[in-house]
Amino acid sequence: MTTLADKKVLLGITGGIAAYKTPELVRRLRDAGAQVRVVMTPAAQAFIAPLTLQAVSGHRVHSELLDAEAEAGMGHIELARWADELVIAPATAHAIARLAHGFADDLLATLALATEARISVVPAMNRVMWASRPVTENCQRLEALGMRLLGPASGEQACGEVGAGRMIEPDQIVAALSDKTDLLAGHRFVVTAGPTHEALDPVRFLGNRSSGRMGFCLAAALAEAGARVDLVAGPVNLATPPGVSRCDVQSAREMLAAVMARIEGADGFVGVAAVADYRPESVADHKIKKSDEALAMRLVPNPDILAEVSKHPARPSLVMGFAAETRDLAEAARQKLARKQLDLIAANLVGDGLAFDCKENALEVFSTERHWSLPQQAKSMLARALVDIIAERMPSKGG
Ligand code: C5P
Repeated sequence: MTTLADKKVLLGITGGIAAYKTPELVRRLRDAGAQVRVVMTPAAQAFIAPLTLQAVSGHRVHSELLDAEAEAGMGHIELARWADELVIAPATAHAIARLAHGFADDLLATLALATEARISVVPAMNRVMWASRPVTENCQRLEALGMRLLGPASGEQACGEVGAGRMIEPDQIVAALSDKTDLLAGHRFVVTAGPTHEALDPVRFLGNRSSGRMGFCLAAALAEAGARVDLVAGPVNLATPPGVSRCDVQSAREMLAAVMARIEGADGFVGVAAVADYRPESVADHKIKKSDEALAMRLVPNPDILAEVSKHPARPSLVMGFAAETRDLAEAARQKLARKQLDLIAANLVGDGLAFDCKENALEVFSTERHWSLPQQAKSMLARALVDIIAERMPSKGG
């Protein structure tokens, strides 16, 4: 069985060294049953010859926006209409900036504006560039515009450095394009994400360093797999993924109430939120004044949302938690799995630049009888891997 049978994939290649992997990508796409046409930017042609891509795709490569000959055959609007999928691999920092801002001064950028196909952007660049603020913000913009990011991966880079920014491998790109929209069709999930803020006074709160990115990526991946998703989000600065219904909350108690209002009839619950375990016993009506004295504050435990869902009479058939640990990862995760009566738990070590406030993570996933190791990768890719594990354990709804 091919996974991309009859899909029309338009591959846009931009000018990065990872362009050398694109002939292999075209071959893998065609092996999976896709029809492939290739668009190259001028800079891409400095890394790999159009003739090579023509040979592996079986079609002339497109590169000029204003090309009378090409327009007489398959012009740029026809090419945009033809595609079911537009994949930009590798996508340089420059290409990402142009896509994020709707440029239309070369063929690839124009196609991205003119197509109704899903657009997948596969970044590849030096690790410092990838971590830079402009690239981070442009990527957030791409996602808010409905494009999806595939990767990048971590590892040794062409520039000799080691870190996040490598293009993901051709077979990972093919897997991400393969149609999984039916995988969780008919299922509804409730997902929590982000931190909670527990007010001390009108201007201060207790909280923790969670960006919400893992939970948002998971909500996006569940929706991509065909599930209906209710995302209950703490205070974060992230765009709502396409197809996801979002409710914003501040505190753990608000999060619990929002979850409970949505849990009846849900098939799955995933608690990704880094809920504050304690809140101040009382909230000052006015800003607490600074003084030279030590300040004592009594904290009381917050409700455990995950445990409440797990023992709820309307318990979804799959309840999954996350565990951030600083040591004894497997032992702590297994204990949490049992104590909160979960079906799955995804655990990660915090510290060493992983987990909080960053785009990559590594997870160890446990059920009572199995263990999966998901190596360090972009949170969006991890989320897709988690969806495969979740989908395997969901009772079938027959589409
Ligand atoms: O026990 P611990 O806080 O480490 O468990 C983490 C898991 O429990 C996460 O899935 C988190 O979303 C969930 N949790 C919760 N409510 C809390 C604390 C944690 O839902 N008050």
